[in-house]
Amino acid sequence: MSDLSNLPTPALILDRDRLESNLERMAQKATRLGVSLRPHIKTHKSIEIAERQRALGASGITVSTLHEAKMFAAHGFDDITWAFPLILSRVEEVAELASRIRLRVVVDSVEALAALENLDTPLHVWLKIDCGYHRAGVDPQSSRATELAMRISQSSMLTFDGILTHSGHAYRPGSPAARLAVAEQERDVMTELADGLRSAGIEVPAVSIGSTPAMAVIEDLTGVDEIRPGNYALYDYTQVELCSCRISDCAVTVLTSVVSRGAAHSVVDAGALALSKDSGPEQEHGTIFGRFFYDYENGGVSEDVLLTSLSQEHGIVNKAAPVGTKFRILPNHSCLTVAQFDEYIVVEGDQVVDRWRVHRGRS
Ligand SMILES: Cc1ncc(COP(=O)(O)O)c(C=O)c1O
Repeated sequence: MSDLSNLPTPALILDRDRLESNLERMAQKATRLGVSLRPHIKTHKSIEIAERQRALGASGITVSTLHEAKMFAAHGFDDITWAFPLILSRVEEVAELASRIRLRVVVDSVEALAALENLDTPLHVWLKIDCGYHRAGVDPQSSRATELAMRISQSSMLTFDGILTHSGHAYRPGSPAARLAVAEQERDVMTELADGLRSAGIEVPAVSIGSTPAMAVIEDLTGVDEIRPGNYALYDYTQVELCSCRISDCAVTVLTSVVSRGAAHSVVDAGALALSKDSGPEQEHGTIFGRFFYDYENGGVSEDVLLTSLSQEHGIVNKAAPVGTKFRILPNHSCLTVAQFDEYIVVEGDQVVDRWRVHRGRS
């Protein structure tokens, strides 16, 4: 086995000890708060990581694409929530997969529900609720929420799994108190809606919520049955800025080399197709696309040496450094960074101990 110093770059490096601590901490939190954990695997797209999450008690997994659902089903995951508004052009594939595993789909429209009813296939269905993020989901105050829940629960082919939401607005800049308010709002909107639906005679089997920043701050999940955080497995610089974790919890880095040196800048082999163009949290110096570690063990990242721009394969560093210098970059958004690579190089300390495939794709 080799060590980090002689790996070809760019490479996606996964720190196994940090991953393990992150997985254990969230599993323990779910147990402490009395909820099941159904991790979102879109962050890591790794069978090995999902197997570890399952061994630590995950009740099933969440995916964002049908490709992920198919890949993980092919590796023995048989209880999968596709937490994305149903894509009508893919319902035949949904039916096929649902004949092999317990596939749970998400709807927030009459059109999607009608497409499922027309399939005439038994399916598990969540009703997606907008808890304040305003991306997708039914307004919990609207009569549509009750009408759709009633229609799913009365269907002979569909099984109503309950109501599901995602607190993506926990990512907006603000204080930890503001994030706690978002997390509490997510919980309260959902438990109040569940109570309202139950009073209208609709059985609501479960309430499913979750994002990593909300789960980092919430300590009371009374009335909630399931949480679906994903990013917590790996974390990233955005989560550090949101106080969800410390830099020394971040489990993925991109190993890169200086390939060209100018008078006052250098170029590394980590561009947008290694890191993504996620601009991360707002910064006073303008957009920074990744942080360079000077002390990986203790979570030290440079405030002076910065990745200031990206093109497809080039990353521009604001300081001159000798060609061949290697850096470890902390990405702004680990989910998008991982999706640029075919495999993780798994390390313990500086030693490479394994290689795990990233199941990315669009089929
Ligand atoms: C529907 C849904 N559930 C759960 C998650 C997980 O959130 P996070 O990545 O903050 O843990 C996401 C992330 O985008 C999501 O879209």
